[in-house]
Amino acid sequence: MIEEYLNKVIEGDCLEVLKGFPDKSFDLLLTDPPYAIELNGGGSIKKKIDYRRGSLLGIGSNPSFTLIPFLEVVRPKLKRFHAYIWMSKDTLPETLNWILKNKFMWNILVWSKTNPVPAYNNTYLSDIEYCVFIREKGGCHWTKDLGYETYKKVMVDSVQSIPGHPTPKPMWMMEKLIKVSSKPGDIILEPYTGSGTTCIAAKNLGRNFVGIEINPEYVELARARLRQDILL
Ligand SMILES: C[S@@+](CC[C@H](N)C(=O)[O-])C[C@H]1O[C@@H](n2cnc3c(N)ncnc32)[C@H](O)[C@@H]1O
Repeated sequence: MIEEYLNKVIEGDCLEVLKGFPDKSFDLLLTDPPYAIELNGGGSIKKKIDYRRGSLLGIGSNPSFTLIPFLEVVRPKLKRFHAYIWMSKDTLPETLNWILKNKFMWNILVWSKTNPVPAYNNTYLSDIEYCVFIREKGGCHWTKDLGYETYKKVMVDSVQSIPGHPTPKPMWMMEKLIKVSSKPGDIILEPYTGSGTTCIAAKNLGRNFVGIEINPEYVELARARLRQDILL
């Protein structure tokens, strides 16, 4: 039964842990997986690549990460396919192909960063992260009347910083998505918990959550934030 896992952060590989949950357990998937970023290259951009490779691997990321195996594992665990998935532009094509194949409805929201790292040679700034919203037709919750600002797809904020995790998301963004697409008592799934931002946002709003995180240090950080041992 899913009840025994409610409002907990479970340590493990989500692709394995998810298989143990009963089907149709969750109302909403709100997740922030490791980003696939193209790391091939050399010459003048080598420094940047080496830096990125180090920082990505440091957060348990995999430069060749692909989302589709995860989508197939998580799909039966949702009551209906209803999800917000953060990603870099490199993961967009495979995700959109998968959505179209399944005839789901979709939209793209963005986090516009006010303080991105400076760009290197001949590239635009990395000042946008994408959040793909996916839902099956019918039966997915939508909260009306939260005010005009809430339904804007461009969300503007600075890059966040907390001790202990390199890529925390802004709390208010996760809260906004949860408010729009769930109701109190719903069960939110975050299989790539990191420092626990989504789980805390769910708790703040009277929703249930289940978090999964592979890195034991981040599991402890998320649990401490949830206990409010550290007010981050
Ligand atoms: C982009 S971060 C999430 C950050 C989070 N949104 C926050 O605000 O702190 C992705 C997280 O997924 C974790 N991770 C990577 N592969 C995983 C897997 N197979 N199962 C569970 N967690 C995984 C990483 O350790 C990392 O903490």
